[in-house]
Amino acid sequence: MRPRTTIEKHSAMLLQRLAAPETASHLAANPASMVRLANALIDAGETARAVELAAQARRLAPEDPEIERIALLVLERSVPDWHHTILADAARNSAFDTALRRSVVPGSRVLDIGAGSGLLALMAARAGAAEVVSCELNPALAAAATRIVERNGHSDRIRIVAKHSRDLEIGTDLAGPADIIVSEIVANNLLGENILGTMEDVVGRLAHSTTRVIPSHGAMPIALACYGDLASQQLGSVQGFDLSLMNGFAARIGLSPGNRTLELRSAPEDLFSFDFSSGGPFTGDRAAVTLTSTGGAVNGIVQWIRLTMDAEGTTYENRPAPGASSCWSVMFQPLPCVRATQPGDRIVVQGRRDRTSVWMWAEAPAGETPVSSGT
Ligand SMILES: C[S@@+](CC[C@H](N)C(=O)[O-])C[C@H]1O[C@@H](n2cnc3c(N)ncnc32)[C@H](O)[C@@H]1O
Repeated sequence: MRPRTTIEKHSAMLLQRLAAPETASHLAANPASMVRLANALIDAGETARAVELAAQARRLAPEDPEIERIALLVLERSVPDWHHTILADAARNSAFDTALRRSVVPGSRVLDIGAGSGLLALMAARAGAAEVVSCELNPALAAAATRIVERNGHSDRIRIVAKHSRDLEIGTDLAGPADIIVSEIVANNLLGENILGTMEDVVGRLAHSTTRVIPSHGAMPIALACYGDLASQQLGSVQGFDLSLMNGFAARIGLSPGNRTLELRSAPEDLFSFDFSSGGPFTGDRAAVTLTSTGGAVNGIVQWIRLTMDAEGTTYENRPAPGASSCWSVMFQPLPCVRATQPGDRIVVQGRRDRTSVWMWAEAPAGETPVSSGT
């Protein structure tokens, strides 16, 4: 296959160079070149090779402070910084812990998709699982999770597998189908981390008829909203130049759910919702909901997520409210024009989705052209 982007071309070139026998012997004698190549591989999106090379360079020159520094930065760049944010979200962590404590029984075999730090796997082991297999596609995180599991004394029951879930196999990675599948591969728009594709695959291949899936359901509520700071964020004149065309690149704005200038102007409705535990297939790529205004200016639609963790009704929701906090942002999509609404005015919002993206637009009143934006 031909490389499609500059990054892919760059990556293909680096990998080709890396595969040459003379490169291997040159690098083995030059750990400084090796660690710099690791950094270039990160730029090219080749995280696994980069982490491997950085570790090798460190082993070859354990006392070299320059190599140590570059290797540490390669490791840092290989892991998105939102991992710290999600681990600090006590409500998120507690929703998963509650659901796992309710579901795990002695002897349970748990499959955790996307180990990250290993937190959910540790929760499952603490709840009494006999066996936890936790897969992680990012090799640096998988290595860190393995050490975290050891440090917390659960290596006897948790195995971190450095693989994408699609490469897991019963017999090789899991002794049998999982009794519980837990995952937190949820994006701000619910779908961006491919939870639908992953659930279709793992529930179909690695579960049995009574496997519990956590979260069992996910929904994408939306509401009419007025974001008070919108105007101040829009570009107009900058240093005497009209830069307003740049606003066309701000089709959606990620906000904290606790943003005090964001006010809901309708009750929420779910634009899309999914039963993850069914394993799909997840059909239905169009939706429409009617939102009834509570009155006042409406300058956008706001979308957030709601996760139902288990049949007992443990939920997590990052619904906008003054002072609310969440590791997930809510997505605000400005309307083309501010609408002055009366209580009871109805606005129809159309939605369309594919596996990982969602687009929504408000039907326009007469005389206004609809503009859609994606999340
Ligand atoms: C949002 S983090 C959650 C980490 C941890 N489970 C937690 O809740 O704190 C998702 C992690 O899953 C990994 N991941 C996403 N999809 C995956 C898949 N299909 N197979 C293996 N790892 C996956 C990502 O690399 C990331 O580290």
